[in-house]
Amino acid sequence: MFVKRKRGWEIAEAGATPERLFFARRALIGGAVAAGGIAAARPAAAGWLFASPKVAMRKLAPMPAPLDKRYQPGRALTPEQAATTYNNFYEFNDSKDVWQQAQRLPVTPWNIVVDGLVAKPFTIGLEDLIKRVGLEERLYRHRCVEAWAMTVPWTGFALARLVALAQPTAAAKYIVFTSLEDRKVMPGLSAGFYPWPYTEGLTLAEATNDLAFLAVGMYGHVLPPQDGAAIRLAVPWKYGFKSAKSIVRVTFTDRQPKTFWQQLQSSEYGFWANVNPAVPHPRWSQARERLIGTTEMVPTQIYNGYGEFVAPLYADMIKQGVRPTVLYR
Ligand code: MTE
Repeated sequence: MFVKRKRGWEIAEAGATPERLFFARRALIGGAVAAGGIAAARPAAAGWLFASPKVAMRKLAPMPAPLDKRYQPGRALTPEQAATTYNNFYEFNDSKDVWQQAQRLPVTPWNIVVDGLVAKPFTIGLEDLIKRVGLEERLYRHRCVEAWAMTVPWTGFALARLVALAQPTAAAKYIVFTSLEDRKVMPGLSAGFYPWPYTEGLTLAEATNDLAFLAVGMYGHVLPPQDGAAIRLAVPWKYGFKSAKSIVRVTFTDRQPKTFWQQLQSSEYGFWANVNPAVPHPRWSQARERLIGTTEMVPTQIYNGYGEFVAPLYADMIKQGVRPTVLYR
């Protein structure tokens, strides 16, 4: 994710750039940091440039769950090693190698506050929540706005189940998801230009669509920290930034929220962010995507290929002439 304002700290277009050029640019930036430039401008976020590659990946408890066969990804799964070492998690740093720094994330106990326009606000521990909703496995395509993609076996439950527990009032129209903001372990939070905490939002209709998923595991074990432990969204018809990680609060509201990336750069990252190959990002095409763990580029599909399940959510807006840049950016 990159914002348009060019500043000393910005690594522009990296994920949307052929890897050859990306690494050339990183090398350039490394040189500038060595010369004292960028490090002074953004000390915490530049930490990744010096991160030790010797950090061990956390051992993860198994989390078996029956596979829901309704959603076939039509693609090979991304090798686990590739999927869990190429991440976005800005609370730690803005490198794709963030898995190393993210190993510090504390995940037990994990509590989620459910509040706002609900019958009765409550806080629930993750284990208790899992007992109440049960677990299943789903194989989802995962498409980042930066034009890379993965196919991931998530373990979790339909978000609709949490909505049912919350009992939203008739006035509730949207849900806001807030990510953990822990300055003791998340050095990226000291990058003051970001509107922390990370927040995302869905309409209640989107949230109760069966595809919207809360993941607590992947590849048959609990979520690794870098992928958003202890609980994260997987909203596969939208660009990946909609899928907030490490969620600690779920708030029901009657107003469309201004989300993290929208606050940062609303001309590039909107509320809806439905995948559409025909609507380019202002600075790059969305027509194709790079499959992580391979050298393949493949065509991107509208709603990331999930149109049969979700297109009806937007039919009225489209009939009313809503501009594609609103729904698909
Ligand atoms: N959630 C939080 N809290 N912080 C983040 O930086 N990055 C988003 C999203 N959720 C992000 C986040 C982006 S831009 C993407 S593409 C996906 O997480 C990446 O998920 P992955 O690293 O598990 O592939």
